[in-house]
Amino acid sequence: MRRPSRAVYGGAVTDEQRSDAEQRPYGGADDNPALKRVRTRHFQRAKEQGIKITGLTSYDVLSARLFDEAGIDFLLVGDSAGNTVFGYDTTIPVTVDELIPLTRAVVRGAKRALVIADMPFGSYENGPDVALDTALRFMKETGAHAVKCEGGVRSAKQIRRIVRAGIPVMAHIGFTPQSEHGLGGHIIQGRGEGAAALLADAHAVEEAGAFAVVLEMVPSAIAAQVTKELSIPTISVGAGPHCDGQLMVWSDWAGFTQGRIPKFVKQYADIGRTLLDAAKSYREDVESGAYPAPEHEYGE
Ligand code: KIV
Repeated sequence: MRRPSRAVYGGAVTDEQRSDAEQRPYGGADDNPALKRVRTRHFQRAKEQGIKITGLTSYDVLSARLFDEAGIDFLLVGDSAGNTVFGYDTTIPVTVDELIPLTRAVVRGAKRALVIADMPFGSYENGPDVALDTALRFMKETGAHAVKCEGGVRSAKQIRRIVRAGIPVMAHIGFTPQSEHGLGGHIIQGRGEGAAALLADAHAVEEAGAFAVVLEMVPSAIAAQVTKELSIPTISVGAGPHCDGQLMVWSDWAGFTQGRIPKFVKQYADIGRTLLDAAKSYREDVESGAYPAPEHEYGE
């Protein structure tokens, strides 16, 4: 993460505050860089000052606490929970009722990170009224700070309505997993003639009032152009290094996902192997009687 400029916080900054601030680049209130909630206005400021924004998905309180402590700026309770939590093949079956308890848990674990609730397939496509009802449910029932929905031009009316009600919206264009069948599979978007449509989508969501836009599986060059043309931050999910921030599905990033991992994912841990080995050791210890040992027993 690039070092913040002092101007991000405003006002005089003590050495102690500065070292805290360096770990947490723009989550402070204007006059106090000590730990405060990241807000959508900090996203805007980060773009203006060239500070990269970091995001991870999270679906539970344990991961939320850790990612928050690490200084990750936003946590997305993605409908990728369909794959990572519920074991569906796609995100299509995921419902609002399934995501609400997960979002509540993440909100409880995040003191600083902005928590974004993903609006699942079927919960906003039917028009602005339905979209607003869904967003209101997430805000009232979970404590999330913003919502996300897929689609550019096609979702602009929904985004506008939600934003007018005072709810921040992160948009999501490029490859949109909820339309996997409509798009003909996991296909890179914005290539060749698709570039014009991607740009139109990007401008549509900005005009509708989105505070940021995810670009998923888009060539780096077109993502760079979108990032330059928009005043709101772009968040890359496989859209290269020129975006204003990066987002990854945590189980892919931490080596927890079984099966195929997209090319853009960099694996930062091998949690799957660690847990597998731990479970095997535990089974062996129980079978051999090595666990529980005397130090694990309660005396009378
Ligand atoms: O559901 C999700 O995790 C997402 C991100 C991959 C953008 O939508």
